[in-house]
Amino acid sequence: MRRYSVRDGTLYATAFYLAPPKQVHRLHSMISTVPGERHERRGPRMTEHNFASAVKKIQDALGPDCPEARGVRAVTSPVLGAELTEDDIVALLDAGPQEQQTLFALADKVRKRFMGNAVHLRGIIEFSNYCVRDCLYCGLRRDNRKLARYRMSIDEILKVAAKAAAAGYRTIVLQSGDDFHYRADDIARMVERIKRTAAVAVTLSVGERSRKEYAVMRQAGADRFLLKHETADPDLYRRLHPGMTLDGRLECLAHLRDLGFQVGSGNIVGLPGQTVRTIAKDVVLLRALDVEMAGIGPFIPHPDTPLASCPPGDLAMSLKALAVARLALPLAHLPATTALATLHPDARRMGLSCGANVIMPNVTPLEFRRLYEIYPGSIALRAPEDGGIAEIRTMLSSLGRPVSDTCGHSPKPEWARATRVAHTSAH
Ligand code: 5AD
Repeated sequence: MRRYSVRDGTLYATAFYLAPPKQVHRLHSMISTVPGERHERRGPRMTEHNFASAVKKIQDALGPDCPEARGVRAVTSPVLGAELTEDDIVALLDAGPQEQQTLFALADKVRKRFMGNAVHLRGIIEFSNYCVRDCLYCGLRRDNRKLARYRMSIDEILKVAAKAAAAGYRTIVLQSGDDFHYRADDIARMVERIKRTAAVAVTLSVGERSRKEYAVMRQAGADRFLLKHETADPDLYRRLHPGMTLDGRLECLAHLRDLGFQVGSGNIVGLPGQTVRTIAKDVVLLRALDVEMAGIGPFIPHPDTPLASCPPGDLAMSLKALAVARLALPLAHLPATTALATLHPDARRMGLSCGANVIMPNVTPLEFRRLYEIYPGSIALRAPEDGGIAEIRTMLSSLGRPVSDTCGHSPKPEWARATRVAHTSAH
């Protein structure tokens, strides 16, 4: 049967891009029985009615489920995302095991309709684990004196980027702690040299800098920037990030937006002091920022941080947050995060089946990778030097999901031109 899917703003007619429905169904039942549903059952559920009405809003906005309805995403997407109120989102996040199945299936459908079936691989290079910040949850925090610190040289970074590009990655993510040892000029030079030698998009994830510094990086050709807002609750933000504010974070995100980056943000699920409403506010904020990418993953306690004894984030809640983000942001790139995959051996597949369309394998040389310990036990430590492309391909093909052969820029209409420019200048 001829089916349709959307890749990078183009409508494709193909049978290959669709996952076998049976398999997807099996995964959905699996997700609905995952353990640890602390957030689910709290007395009589006042949100049942709201859940049904939130689901109906999305279904109505999606229109009939026929091939002809596909490809109208540019018209329907703002409607689709904007329909949901904060209360709707709370109701969706409160979904119990039965409702969860409905939510995940709907998110999967929205993902398929708006983003297609291809999965984008982004190769992350963690080039420095020095950090001037002291975030209470993070193993890289300045006050963690137990951690041996490293910095990769620009030449080392370039070598790793070239290897990743040769292995097939079409996006390189340069990530570090907030490390001012690298000046904006240094980062700009890395970006320029990577883009000169490989046909890749470059995403930066180097924390809070001045607008001027961001401008230098953008000028050098950096395509995208990731800066998670972590939590949309300003008080919780202040408590978890000594000396920092949510407003400061949002100001950085506004600069990045202004400078023409494709902007990524995101949040942590299961932080101590967080409620379901806080997570709903996270999704509302992501929608207000109209992000091109959002990383949503569970909190994992690190033994050498003040939050060592706090429980980890809940798998089901993390998946629900991801699914709701897909409904609210149909055109955003959403990774099945490494933190999610670290919680449960099958969580990457689960994430990909309830809204995610991106995987971010770690290509950092192993000697450094083990020192980039944001949280313990990362699955990245079990992956080979190239991030485990072969294993990922096998997993994706079992889901009927091909690996994208494009840079995977934002499919929003306003980035169509950026995509062409990036393609021509890269070759
Ligand atoms: N658990 C989960 N995610 C974490 N991060 C940092 N520490 C933790 C933790 N303990 C996330 C933050 C940060 C990203 C690089 O890693 O969201 O932005």
